[in-house]
Amino acid sequence: MMKICCIGAGYVGGPTMAMIALNCHDIDVAVVDIAAPRINAWNSSNLPIFEPGLDDVVKACRGRNLFFSTDVEKHVAEADIVFVSVNTPTKLRGLGAGKAADLTYWESAARMIADVSTTDKIVVEKSTVPVKTAEAIEKILNHNSNGIQFQILSNPEFLAEGTAIEDLMKPDRVLIGGRETPDGKKAIETLKDVYAHWVPADRIITMNLWSAELSKLAANALLAQRISSVNAMSALCEATGADVSEVAYAVGKDSRIGPRFLNASVGYGGSCFQKDILNLVYICECNGLTEVANYWKQVVQINDYQKARFVKRVVSSMFNTVSGKKIAILGFAFKKDTGDTRETAAMDVCRGLIGDKAQLSIYDPQVTREQILRDLAVDKLDWDHPRHLQQSLNSKHVSVVSDPYEATKGAHGVCILTEWDEFKTLEYERIYKSMQKPAFVFDGRNVIDVNELRKIGFIVYSVGKPLDPWVKDLPAAPPS
Ligand SMILES: NC(=O)c1ccc[n+]([C@@H]2O[C@H](COP(=O)([O-])OP(=O)(O)OC[C@H]3O[C@@H](n4cnc5c(N)ncnc54)[C@H](O)[C@@H]3O)[C@@H](O)[C@H]2O)c1
Repeated sequence: MMKICCIGAGYVGGPTMAMIALNCHDIDVAVVDIAAPRINAWNSSNLPIFEPGLDDVVKACRGRNLFFSTDVEKHVAEADIVFVSVNTPTKLRGLGAGKAADLTYWESAARMIADVSTTDKIVVEKSTVPVKTAEAIEKILNHNSNGIQFQILSNPEFLAEGTAIEDLMKPDRVLIGGRETPDGKKAIETLKDVYAHWVPADRIITMNLWSAELSKLAANALLAQRISSVNAMSALCEATGADVSEVAYAVGKDSRIGPRFLNASVGYGGSCFQKDILNLVYICECNGLTEVANYWKQVVQINDYQKARFVKRVVSSMFNTVSGKKIAILGFAFKKDTGDTRETAAMDVCRGLIGDKAQLSIYDPQVTREQILRDLAVDKLDWDHPRHLQQSLNSKHVSVVSDPYEATKGAHGVCILTEWDEFKTLEYERIYKSMQKPAFVFDGRNVIDVNELRKIGFIVYSVGKPLDPWVKDLPAAPPS
């Protein structure tokens, strides 16, 4: 029976391996991690990540042909195919700090594979890595191999959190990059056969290693660029009286553009977009492509601008100060249907408001109190590093509550920062009655019906929508 091992039981390793186990009864899949609490959670009824449909998939195959373990070396040694799905955060220090990918975790995984292997293996890059990483990994493996043959493949993951199970079940494409040698081609075929258990052949694309690695960075850069483009338009809509939803609808009707991923918002988040673009920028700079680097940098800058602009709208609308005022934060996850908060726009907005001495009451249906406090305490680039390096914030400016009505009670303003469906159907009349007046709603995700809320009596700001007369009379960007 073929054995697969995946190093890294995170948002990618867990769901992707569960999907392989579900569809390939003839393959044993072990997911290993150095973080014991994570592995314990995967083996419990309370999985470490929230993802619609994931519980059922894990339940169907855990103990059958899907195993979670901290015995990293044993499972790597036994495997025919080793996936590496460890975190690749932005480097904090040294050469390329703030931009380049930190490959520490990847390198230590590769060295461990070389150390413990006694049989030939296919090593698969599942993490998102800079172009040419495969070459570096190949060198590490082959210089430490004791005669064992390693074939390295790039198999970047395109799942989106919140829809991971759907994306994995019916992927738009599976991408496999490998060496164009006979052994390389054989390895590609072996991995192709795994996916062919449930993915139609015409959706499995093969190419050379560098194209596969770059395709993942390019896909994320283009997706983030779409959001920054529509967000840039949202600022212009507010200045001119246009409605960004109408503009996006009209634009998306063009079949060359398409309707998806055109929602204006307070900004994109998630573990990947920013780090992957910064990584792309760094690679461009290293190759002397200054203009190209600057082009992509702008996508990140517009995202930062959008978050800062939102904070300014809140503060300027509320008489230029939020000091001591209770502000309800509805939603902290970076998008709906996930509990993931990495690089969430909410983090920057909350920090901005705390900077102005606001009193925050935060509610999110999936994010724990500990996570929120930890996020607000860590340095911006530290989120993807081990937990023991992170300190929790014990701030008198923040309370985390488990009920949206408690968050909004007595508040001067409400900020909606994640597009959870439940925020569309809250009892806004009840919320209005319980709030200080004038009562403000700042919708960073365009989830509420602006006219309905204005009818109730709220002063409403919704990104890219025609401005409330109250907001309109204020400068768009007060001095910072
Ligand atoms: N999250 C996403 O939506 C997404 C989508 C596509 C690609 N990716 C990429 O996939 C990779 C993994 O992302 P993630 O979100 O799953 O990260 P994650 O932080 O959730 O998981 C990574 C896991 O790897 C473990 N790990 C690190 N070093 C290890 C080692 N030497 N041995 C064993 N375990 C080790 C960590 O303990 C952690 O549990 C990243 O490169 C990311 O860019 C992520």
